[in-house]
Amino acid sequence: MKENIDLKELYINFFVSKGHKQIPSSPVVPENDPSVLFNTAGMQPLIPYLMGQEHPYGKRLCDYQKCIRTNDLDEVGDTFHHTFFEMLGNWSLGDYFKKEIIEWSFEFLTKVLNIPVEKLAVTVFAGNDLIPFDEFTYNKWKSLGISEDKIAKTSEDNFWIAGETGPCGPDTEMFYWRSNDEIPNKFDPDDSRWVEIWNDVFMQYEKKQDGTVVELPIKNVDTGMGVERVTAILEGVNDNYLSSIWKDVIDLICNISNKEYNEENQKSIRVIADHLRTAVFILADPAGIRPSNTDQGYILRRLIRRAIRHAKTLGIDLNTDFEAQIANLIINKYKKYYKELEDNKDIILNELTIEKNKFARTLEKGLKEFEKVATKDIDGQTAFHLFDTYGFPLELTIELAEEKNLKVDVEGYNKKFKEHQELSRTASAGKFKGGLSGNSEIETKYHTATHLLNAALKIVLGPDTHQRGSNITEERMRFDFNCDHKLTDEEKKQAEDLVNQWINEGLDVKVEEMSKEDAIKSGAECMFIEKYPDLVTVYTIGNNVSKELCGGPHVKNTKEIGHFTIVKEEASSAGIRRIKAKIS
Ligand code: ALA
Repeated sequence: MKENIDLKELYINFFVSKGHKQIPSSPVVPENDPSVLFNTAGMQPLIPYLMGQEHPYGKRLCDYQKCIRTNDLDEVGDTFHHTFFEMLGNWSLGDYFKKEIIEWSFEFLTKVLNIPVEKLAVTVFAGNDLIPFDEFTYNKWKSLGISEDKIAKTSEDNFWIAGETGPCGPDTEMFYWRSNDEIPNKFDPDDSRWVEIWNDVFMQYEKKQDGTVVELPIKNVDTGMGVERVTAILEGVNDNYLSSIWKDVIDLICNISNKEYNEENQKSIRVIADHLRTAVFILADPAGIRPSNTDQGYILRRLIRRAIRHAKTLGIDLNTDFEAQIANLIINKYKKYYKELEDNKDIILNELTIEKNKFARTLEKGLKEFEKVATKDIDGQTAFHLFDTYGFPLELTIELAEEKNLKVDVEGYNKKFKEHQELSRTASAGKFKGGLSGNSEIETKYHTATHLLNAALKIVLGPDTHQRGSNITEERMRFDFNCDHKLTDEEKKQAEDLVNQWINEGLDVKVEEMSKEDAIKSGAECMFIEKYPDLVTVYTIGNNVSKELCGGPHVKNTKEIGHFTIVKEEASSAGIRRIKAKIS
């Protein structure tokens, strides 16, 4: 067994030597794509550039990207499922194409990683009604020394696209023989002893919403290699959790729980290791995700609570700071590559502990309650009760039920959940009518003040300052933006003065409908351009003091806003500052 392979370093150095620029990993929560909860592949943050936009770093890029895939969250516990993983990738944005990437892939695998050629096999695109067989790739592999018996042709498995639409193309996948059995003469991609280790996608098409496939303006290469899997292979272990990536985390969990990493405990130990690692990375993200009952916050909550439940299964005392010890080790392991872990260490440890304490209070009682009701399949009302009273995410109830071969009525649960949501909505609407009339008027004022603050910060801090989030209540506005330092008193005052100056000038707020294209051309600011429909509304304040794509509503004239005061300026997360402001 080889020890401690630093695959990331080998990979990046190799592609830098081939003229690539290393780009930093993007956050795990996509910055410009609210249609997915997390980045699931290295190419995701690069979609605009694969579609033809110029990348500031050039046409040859490489990186390691933090990825989170949670569709298999409940599968974690075996030897190879992970919710977080790092994907190595390199890209040609309309630069080199098949010849170069196949030659380099072969060179990296056989010369840098020293994989014997007999242990390699590849698949190539066999062709379909629309796109022909990838003969070039087939012949290229052959010329490099992969025998025809080790090249399989498939159609469905050799066409890659991230979701339903977007950049896509035929690919060629590389496989490694991960077994002590004799290597068969003929390669069968369905034989699980062959494991996929790398994927080269030839992204030259775009799949449209209506299902048609058109040529992209440029021919790209997109590749992806999973760090966890390939490290385990290179280190000769059949359980990913035994590789150098996990070994010390596993040892620490064994130590804390005083349990062996054996058949009986493996599942719980792996779940704790995997889920806490993912939770650490989500909490460190600039998006500022915290445990909650929706979207990314709910995934985070499920991860932490499932880890805690398994900690209890192992007999770990939940009153100790075990979660912080494990998180600390993970932060120390990864901070060299991801500075945000160090920067947000306090937030990470604090949030983990808060969520643990919240859940630990009800877990014991909840488990007792579960034992009581688990004499038959779990109905929707009971599953909802476990969620509402004991904080059991539905998936946890399902997992507990499965351990007893019982089913859970998911539909019934969802119905109860909806009913409950509607009840709380009606309740808060009632509260609104009772005491807070005029609320929408003040919100409208805050809304316009938000645009003015956004414009003011661009003048005070520079044109690259952009909105990263916003939240308005009837009492205040909150505005998040990118900025690498704590604002000085002078900067705060300048921003505040500018907003008040514009308010006092009584500027008209103009609303126009236009095509998204024209809106972008006009220089209108917007957070998630891809998510807007083709026809958009653009709000302009005064003579271009501010121009933003926005759904409104806004005041007609800035005079209506009143006086604007910044009440607080603080860090939100790494590289993101937060301003709280009031109008009076
Ligand atoms: N985008 C390709 C993948 O994720 C490389 O497999």
